[in-house]
Amino acid sequence: MHRSLELSARTMALVLVLIMSYHLIGMSQAQLQVGFYSQTCPEAESIVRSVVQDAIHVNPRNASILLRLHFHDCFVEGCDGSILIDNGANAERNAPGHVGLEGFEVIAKAKENLERVCKGVVSCADIVALAARDAVSSLKVPFYEVPTGRRDGRISNMSLAANMPEADDSIQLLKSKFTQKGLSHEDLVLLGSGAHTIGTTACFFLQNRLYNFSKNSSSDPAINPRFLRKLKAMCPPGNLNDRIPLDPVTKSEFDDQILRNIRDGFAVIASDARLNDDNSTKKVIESYINHASVRSRQSFKADFAEAMVKMGNIGVKTGSNGEIRRVCSTVN
Ligand code: HEM
Ligand SMILES: *[C@@H]1O[C@H](CO)[C@@H](O)[C@H](O)[C@H]1NC(C)=O
Ligand SMILES: *[C@@H]1O[C@H](CO)[C@@H](O)[C@H](O)[C@H]1NC(C)=O
Ligand SMILES: *[C@@H]1O[C@H](CO)[C@@H](O)[C@H](O)[C@H]1NC(C)=O
Ligand SMILES: *[C@@H]1O[C@H](CO)[C@@H](O)[C@H](O)[C@H]1NC(C)=O
Ligand SMILES: *[C@@H]1O[C@H](CO)[C@@H](O)[C@H](O)[C@H]1NC(C)=O
Repeated sequence: MHRSLELSARTMALVLVLIMSYHLIGMSQAQLQVGFYSQTCPEAESIVRSVVQDAIHVNPRNASILLRLHFHDCFVEGCDGSILIDNGANAERNAPGHVGLEGFEVIAKAKENLERVCKGVVSCADIVALAARDAVSSLKVPFYEVPTGRRDGRISNMSLAANMPEADDSIQLLKSKFTQKGLSHEDLVLLGSGAHTIGTTACFFLQNRLYNFSKNSSSDPAINPRFLRKLKAMCPPGNLNDRIPLDPVTKSEFDDQILRNIRDGFAVIASDARLNDDNSTKKVIESYINHASVRSRQSFKADFAEAMVKMGNIGVKTGSNGEIRRVCSTVN
């Protein structure tokens, strides 16, 4: 009796220690901080910013390219720069779900400049997150602080990208893919439509929506008929490579116009249109465009920025996990 009591007290103590250390490890895995490099590489953020600004100057498309790159990095293996690894035909970046990604050379350039100033300090994953912020703040999204301290992953395999959100996914599937990453339905609307207020899509992603939508209908009935004729003219059957704006009304301005497009049948890609298929996501859209709502026009941008920070936290590696890659396209 006495013996077994003692034993169970010891067992309990052990369990407590295990719980506490598990908790501590959990914390250290999730902890990013604003200004992580302020002592070790004070110029880190300004070096990234200047490379991004130069790239946008060369071609304004670089802004949307760098924003999309961060999303695709975060949704596979967390925001760990795994998208940048070029380890052959089966590399993650070659996955069908990542088709059309660009911007790798901009990240490589920033890394090169950083290595010259503070060798082995700034992760590629952080460069991607900072570059996305600098890209959108060039488009008048209010500057937001990016918590840093991500470390780079060592795994890249295209099979890991099988669960990327896809243009032809149903709203149920889109919601569940975001939920799996710890993002809410509100984040889905803010991030998806917010990002697509700029940038372009290849006609490739419209083929099914325009010509092969379902058994019942060759094109998506959610498309306004006048707009359908326009889309078909811009993306004829079999045209895969021409690019058209995701928000044709205000294509290079970051604004809430895309929410009106989605509500009114003027969404360009199907996944944007699907946000209007579901009461919970529809309600989020309405809340930003209904002037009687408590949310103002300004809050769309601010809330987008907040959701970006949240996305930037997905599955991050910190502490002794991962590494600081020397070259972003290969593990050390
Ligand atoms: C909701 C799920 C999403 C789906 C299904 C989706 C799908 C797509 C597709 C098919 C394209 C066209 C790609 C091309 O032709 O190059 C695209 C473009 C883009 N996406 Fe998304 N996306 C989603 C969410 C996001 C999120 C969360 C972000 C960033 C926060 C984002 C950022 C972008 C940007 C900036 C572009 C334009 C790229 C360019 O101009 O080259 N997307 N998206
Ligand atoms: C983005 O900027 C880089 C310069 O850093 C440039 O080489 C590249 O061509 C630009 N991307 C596009 C799509 O023009
Ligand atoms: C990638 O994943 C596939 C399927 O899980 C596996 O067969 C393959 O060996 C992996 N490749 C690498 C390079 O790890
Ligand atoms: C049309 O869609 C169906 C079902 O999604 C698919 O199996 C088929 O390959 C598509 N056809 C073309 C021509 O893309
Ligand atoms: C297609 O048509 C069938 C029968 O007319 C109907 O039961 C079904 O719900 C329709 N599907 C879609 C996706 O509209
Ligand atoms: C969605 O909202 C409409 C209108 O408010 C309502 O009639 C419908 O039942 C709702 N659908 C679901 C699945 O909650």
